[in-house]
Amino acid sequence: MERWSLGAKVVALALLLSAASHGRELPVKSSDRSFIYNHTLAKTLVEYASAVYMTDLTALFTWTCSRCNDLTQVRDHQGFEMRSLIVDVENCLQAFVGVDHSLNSIIVAIRGTQENSVQNWIKDLIWKQLDLSYPNMPNAKVHSGFFSSYNNTILRLAITSAVHKARKSYGDINVIVTGHSMGGAMASFCALDLAMKLGGGSVQLMTFGQPRVGNAAFASYFAKYVPNTIRVTHGHDIVPHLPPYFSFLPQLTYHHFPREVWVQDSDGNTTERICDDSGEDPDCCRCISMFGLRIQDHFTYLGVDMEADDWSTCRIITAQRVQQFRLELAGNIMMTKHDIDVSIVEPSVQNRLEQF
Ligand SMILES: *[C@@H]1O[C@H](CO)[C@@H](O)[C@H](O)[C@H]1NC(C)=O
Ligand SMILES: *[C@@H]1O[C@H](CO)[C@@H](O)[C@H](O)[C@H]1NC(C)=O
Ligand SMILES: *[C@@H]1O[C@H](CO)[C@@H](O)[C@H](O)[C@H]1NC(C)=O
Repeated sequence: MERWSLGAKVVALALLLSAASHGRELPVKSSDRSFIYNHTLAKTLVEYASAVYMTDLTALFTWTCSRCNDLTQVRDHQGFEMRSLIVDVENCLQAFVGVDHSLNSIIVAIRGTQENSVQNWIKDLIWKQLDLSYPNMPNAKVHSGFFSSYNNTILRLAITSAVHKARKSYGDINVIVTGHSMGGAMASFCALDLAMKLGGGSVQLMTFGQPRVGNAAFASYFAKYVPNTIRVTHGHDIVPHLPPYFSFLPQLTYHHFPREVWVQDSDGNTTERICDDSGEDPDCCRCISMFGLRIQDHFTYLGVDMEADDWSTCRIITAQRVQQFRLELAGNIMMTKHDIDVSIVEPSVQNRLEQF
């Protein structure tokens, strides 16, 4: 299948990465607080990160989508209560905010790239520059594209307002932010933003197969502000290796924040390795030979399908879905017990927040 074959591009990339991966480790100051990886929680969060890919907005909104099955809808304050569905057609972004009553936490899930060619997205990751100084963090550099996808779109405003409202209803419960792939990159910036507002003790981040987003200085700040962070990586997934880590260029290189948990499958057994607090543990996914990296492992995490259910071109299809959603919503909205926000940005109606 065309989708699976990165072919020559992967070889070129592997050469580049194998040059990048040797040498000393960069120091990343880690927090004193120790944070335990919880497999049961990870299994729940990966389902949320998978569900946010669903293109049927009505099924997602009413929490009846096929991937919503394992996370039951709210009933007697158990299960999941959808609070806000956020769709940005212009920038091809999708996210939701809700309350998981079993976890007594607010869940923020942000979707990854939904384009025809994930290969092209991955190929482009090689060349991303650390071209933006993160505000109010001396020496911290990030990639402007990753950052602005969260900060300069509907996501930041809609997510922070939904979190604020949920905490007004339920008190100062914790916020758990999750996402896969590019959604994990945006989830990182979201968690940092929320942690700076609400305090790091109230915010938890768990991402799946996310790329690197900033430099070593940024990783240090991140570890300090969002100590409850887990980055799950899977087997030979290529994405966590990008943009590359050049340990011999400490001032210029990307650097992951801690803490990685590396999940491997071998002969039906799954092992989860809790990595060190450097962010770049050489004994975790980085130990994979660069020629062994694969795209396939990017699309399943903890046995859950992390692909979009519809890979059609984002804008056209989503615009249609939005229309259909509107039609269906007219009936459905009356059935909901709570006020649910729907925020939609369309190419023609920019920056307009709609509330039902
Ligand atoms: C792990 O998380 C689950 C909720 O998903 C919770 O019930 C359980 O107590 C947690 N385990 C530990 C050891 O914290
Ligand atoms: C982030 O977004 C805020 C508005 O939400 C804006 O004022 C600020 O300039 C943005 N930061 C950057 C670096 O673009
Ligand atoms: C899988 O794990 C079990 C328990 O640790 C072990 O007994 C078994 O030999 C393992 N199987 C393989 C194929 O490695």
